Amino acid sequence: MNPSDFVRALRAAAPYVHAHVGRVFVLAFGGEICERADFERLLYDIALLQSLGVKPVVVHGARPQIEARLQARGLDSRHQGNQRVTDAATLECVKDAAGSLRMSIEAKLSTSLASTPMGGARVKVAGGNWIIAKPAGVRGGIDLQSTGEVRRVDAETIRQVLDQGRIALVSNIGYSPTGETFNLRYEDVATAVATALKADKLVFLVDSNPDSWTLAEDTGDAGQLSLAEGAKLANDVTHLSDRDRAHLGAALAAGHGGVRRVHLIGAAEEGALLRELYTRDGVGLMLYTDENYEAVREASIEDVGGVLALIKPLEDAGVLVPRSREQLELEISQFDVMVRDGLVIACCALFPYPQYKMGEFSCVAVHPDYRGEGRAEALLKRSEDTARKLGLSKLFALTTTTEHWFIEHGFVEGKIEELPVQKQRIYNYRRNSLVLVKGL
Ligand SMILES: CC(C)(COP(=O)(O)OP(=O)(O)OC[C@H]1O[C@@H](n2cnc3c(N)ncnc32)[C@H](O)[C@@H]1OP(=O)(O)O)[C@@H](O)C(=O)NCCC(=O)NCCS
Repeated sequence: MNPSDFVRALRAAAPYVHAHVGRVFVLAFGGEICERADFERLLYDIALLQSLGVKPVVVHGARPQIEARLQARGLDSRHQGNQRVTDAATLECVKDAAGSLRMSIEAKLSTSLASTPMGGARVKVAGGNWIIAKPAGVRGGIDLQSTGEVRRVDAETIRQVLDQGRIALVSNIGYSPTGETFNLRYEDVATAVATALKADKLVFLVDSNPDSWTLAEDTGDAGQLSLAEGAKLANDVTHLSDRDRAHLGAALAAGHGGVRRVHLIGAAEEGALLRELYTRDGVGLMLYTDENYEAVREASIEDVGGVLALIKPLEDAGVLVPRSREQLELEISQFDVMVRDGLVIACCALFPYPQYKMGEFSCVAVHPDYRGEGRAEALLKRSEDTARKLGLSKLFALTTTTEHWFIEHGFVEGKIEELPVQKQRIYNYRRNSLVLVKGL
């Protein structure tokens, strides 16, 4: 790899690294993913996520492994609808398959050979009786026996484990308060765990390619669907396999349960997990909870880093007046930010001068990838509303390069003498900014 490409890629990932530090991500995959030749790589990527500050909860299924054991023992695989009938002999196969898969995941995560990406890693994995189950009961007249449903998740203990810097590993098995063991669908376990933990993300790694599901074609952003859009489409996805539909259903359930981002990623794509989480373009399909997805809100001290990252290139180019981190920390409460997937993608500030009934609309910036879709206009409208509420009657802005944008949004050219006196005093004649004024 070209060294400058490497440096560029690492720097481009930095905002995502910052955004994901300390976040709880539930990463779920079925037993078929564990059969893949590149399964180790996926686990190494999960270990890397943890090194980058993410708190991972891994949930796995074991369907093909259960089938293989049933076959080896000459037992029938019985289903009622899309649920397995787990009789006593089948339950032995379920325990055997889930237990052995769990051990093999733990073993792979314990790798620390220098010849692998795990060189120098000391990954700690934890498991436990965190999933409380109940019988799924009788369906269509058939008793599903030891097939269960999630009754409760011991989220507090999982959170403690994560806080201790461990990866929490959860299998498709649950226990009831009566001491019985139940066979669960891993999708349901993943959804229940993510919901109970109020996880920041739930990621399903699937063996199909959600990029090709063409569900989000009409949304303007092919990789993303709001929960509402997803729910509408879910009734109409006849072109998807039963497995894919089950994943989509679980993703929607998690979204409705309060998980803000649910990703469906094809496991076959090299590094898909890292690409989805650490690059702007991402891969796969993401369902997001509408109201939080691109939130506009007042900035807080935690946004200082994000605002600096957004405006620094514009300051370097002379478009915006440079602000030090210290100055920004003092002024941050005057800022509004637009946040998408944890990243600040736009900002502006409103500095009121109440004695002049004026306010300065300042530092408006939109990330280059998100321009031309009315975000700056929305920020301006919001500042105008705030200014009106503060009893101000005019906004002004100083600009060297963006005059026409302001004029197109109702500003007219003004004079330095129209500005509040304290602003006139610090007016930089070398910069020679234009003064623009808008009546409210
Ligand atoms: C100016 C800026 C904030 C606009 O953000 P945005 O979200 O794309 O704005 P909107 O979607 O509301 O408006 C986009 C329109 O403004 C136009 N526009 C953007 N920058 C412009 C400029 N410097 N001069 C004239 N028009 C401009 C775009 O061409 C687009 O018009 P079009 O749809 O007719 O092509 C953004 O381009 C930016 O961050 N620029 C760099 C920072 C900057 O100049 N800030 C102002 C400093 S005082």
